[in-house]
Amino acid sequence: MNVNGQKVSFHSPAQRLLDYLRDSLELTGAKEGCGMGECGACTVLVDGEPVCSCLVLVGQISNADVVTVEGLAGADGLHPVQQAIVDCHASQCGFCTPGVVVSTTALLARRPQPDETEVREALVGNLCRCTGYQAIFRAITSLGE
Ligand code: FES
Ligand code: FES
Repeated sequence: MNVNGQKVSFHSPAQRLLDYLRDSLELTGAKEGCGMGECGACTVLVDGEPVCSCLVLVGQISNADVVTVEGLAGADGLHPVQQAIVDCHASQCGFCTPGVVVSTTALLARRPQPDETEVREALVGNLCRCTGYQAIFRAITSLGE
């Protein structure tokens, strides 16, 4: 498969994508919160769609294009979603932040100027224990201003 634009190979098809990314590729942006598809902390893009990497086995997605939060920033700095999170102080412990950033990136790819309902729907699978969500929503809506 491709991960952040690099061709990579795997040897354990039954390994969870989350473990493969974190343990084999040392891409530790995606976090394990629940391990059950409930919290969204492990969200990555698979062929452009946000998925919970704790629920996917690498053997299920051979040849896919995977993008993790590490793959979003460019040579000239943070991705605009990451910068908005920083600017709006929308991260506290930061555990949910990679998943929020990845889910938001997927939303903006299909809806460059989402309304508040669309933002809330896109993030329904991303739980945050710290911010109360208002700062996160403020960060995302600031992108369209
Ligand atoms: S760790 Fe995957 S959804 Fe919670
Ligand atoms: S910033 Fe701590 S869980 Fe969201």
